[in-house]
Amino acid sequence: MAHHSSSHDGTPSRENWGSRVGFIMAAAGSAVGLGNIWKFPYTAGESGGGAFVLIYLFFVIFIGFSVMLTEFSLGRKTGRAAVGAFKSVDKRWSFTGVIGVLSGLLIMGFYPVVGGWALAYIFKVGGGLLNEPSAIGATFDGFITNPLEPLYWMAAYLLVNLLVVAKGISGGIEKAGKVLMPMLFFILIIIAVKGLTLPGSGKGLEFLFSPDFSKVNGEVVLAALGQAFFSLSLGMGCMITYGSYLKKKENLVQNTAIVTGMDTAVALLAGIAMFPAMFAFSMEPAAGPGLVFVVVPQLFAEMTGGMIFALIFFIGLTVAALTSSVSLLEVVVAYLIDEKQLSRPKAVIAAGSVMVLLCIMASLSLGGVGPTLFDTGLFDIFDLLTDKIFLAIGGMFICIFAGWKLSKQELKQEITNDGEISFPLFNLWYGLVKYVIPVAVAIVAIGGILSGFDSGKGPIMILGISIIALLALLSKKL
Ligand code: PFF
Repeated sequence: MAHHSSSHDGTPSRENWGSRVGFIMAAAGSAVGLGNIWKFPYTAGESGGGAFVLIYLFFVIFIGFSVMLTEFSLGRKTGRAAVGAFKSVDKRWSFTGVIGVLSGLLIMGFYPVVGGWALAYIFKVGGGLLNEPSAIGATFDGFITNPLEPLYWMAAYLLVNLLVVAKGISGGIEKAGKVLMPMLFFILIIIAVKGLTLPGSGKGLEFLFSPDFSKVNGEVVLAALGQAFFSLSLGMGCMITYGSYLKKKENLVQNTAIVTGMDTAVALLAGIAMFPAMFAFSMEPAAGPGLVFVVVPQLFAEMTGGMIFALIFFIGLTVAALTSSVSLLEVVVAYLIDEKQLSRPKAVIAAGSVMVLLCIMASLSLGGVGPTLFDTGLFDIFDLLTDKIFLAIGGMFICIFAGWKLSKQELKQEITNDGEISFPLFNLWYGLVKYVIPVAVAIVAIGGILSGFDSGKGPIMILGISIIALLALLSKKL
């Protein structure tokens, strides 16, 4: 249960994960979500396929893994959530945590909208959506641009989130993750196998895995970096928060490897589940955000027994989204509990109220209602700001903080559990975190922003950078 008592020496004793498997499942549950099954395939499709996937994998291995290990270490070492972890070392660094909390709020400003679509699709598929394959695309467009219908589903989806997080760590998040994650894995494998048995599916594999570097520009590289951060739940202190509930005897390196591996496996599996079947049915790989909701039902409609598979798929998608948005909400809630001394239920209500407002505006923006900035609606603005700017830059600051504000010795002690665990690659990790990742992220971000001006996304990215600069300036007051 969620309770915060104080031990006699005044340090608060913290809630802990109930078990090792519970932690891994919750962290993997956070990582595996819409990012893997909705965003990864369509972004890969829009970004030209194989080259994007290769760059993405490169970033996962050399940046994602190291940042995740850094976040777990920071969280466990300080026993604090996103903001507190930095504040407890140096108050001037609290802006890094605040960027994270802001990212959590903004991602939760559109994530439950898409989560609501997934939830709605369980019922739409059950209600005969697949009976008329040619109408599926129009049905999706009509649905998401409708002012009211998506709002009901979003509200239902968000409510489940609030309830899970209100119940506390081992009571809610952990139990949900334990049951739902293995289920999702199983569902995706069934779908991938089904897709691969279709004639002509080989072209889809080729699209996903044979790189064509002529399609690569600064924006594609930044998209791959943003995707790696988003998909692994990095750069906003989510894994700091989860790590803060972790017991001292856990092996951080191993946990990081398992979570990174599972997340990457699910993203690739989602790609393998979608692209071969799409090519087999001669469908368009650059279908955009509607990919999962249009192409997947369409291809299931052409298979015998497709309705059952489609049903299982959308249940899996909803579940995967839930275990992720629960962690997004937890970042904001843990901040309000730790830094603003709210009770858990009050923190959940406060965070939830802001999120529901943001989501309403994001959902309406898809129907062309509401404010726009540089011709971009709020749904896309929230996505652009977080995925392309806040997460990567946040991750950069997390690395700079760990590398330059903490000593090599204390990091080594935390990661090796005071020398009990051997981590032969410690020096490589340390060099990446202290020097390579900050420089690499800065270069990729600059390149991405510059090339973003060609596609009209540049100004919003600059807005993101300005918000970060402002938070850094205000840091002492945060
Ligand atoms: N990793 C989640 C996904 O792939 O859907 C999204 C996410 C969760 C991003 C938590 C960031 C985060 F802190």
